[in-house]
Amino acid sequence: MDKKSEVNRRKFMEVGIYTIGGTIAAASSVALATFAVGPSFKKEKAKWIPVELETGEDNNAGFQRVVLEYETKDGWLTSTERKLAYVKRTKENEIIAISADCTHLGCIVTWDEDQNLFKCPCHDGRYDPDGKVIAGPPPAPLHRHKTKIEDDRLFVSTEKVSYGGETNV
Ligand code: FES
Repeated sequence: MDKKSEVNRRKFMEVGIYTIGGTIAAASSVALATFAVGPSFKKEKAKWIPVELETGEDNNAGFQRVVLEYETKDGWLTSTERKLAYVKRTKENEIIAISADCTHLGCIVTWDEDQNLFKCPCHDGRYDPDGKVIAGPPPAPLHRHKTKIEDDRLFVSTEKVSYGGETNV
């Protein structure tokens, strides 16, 4: 074998080794990045929490405070979330679950049975029993939680929708 073809062969081998090494390194980096960062981009599915609803004889017992407690994952971190909702069976036998999070700055609203309205303690926001704003700075009605009945049990979703149900919030 002459010297020139020996050099070409060596060069070819070098380029081949670097190409294979580079490909393996790139593939490993992508796999590692997906493993490390991937979970933080995953959107968690809504959870359905079983709820026992106490109904009065007229099927209209007013709002019941319900704590929706569930595990949530944010990237690698698992924590317990709690959301408060006001759940009620209407005279039309429809179940509504109103989020207690004020749409102004997120304070927890309380249901005032005597005055028949929701009150926000932070900036005096007021909402009617449907969750529509009647006074104060809140920019939108209280959000709703989705509900469903399955096997005669009531479930309230952790997912919230805007008043009217058009948009997930
Ligand atoms: S946070 Fe409820 S009115 Fe401001």
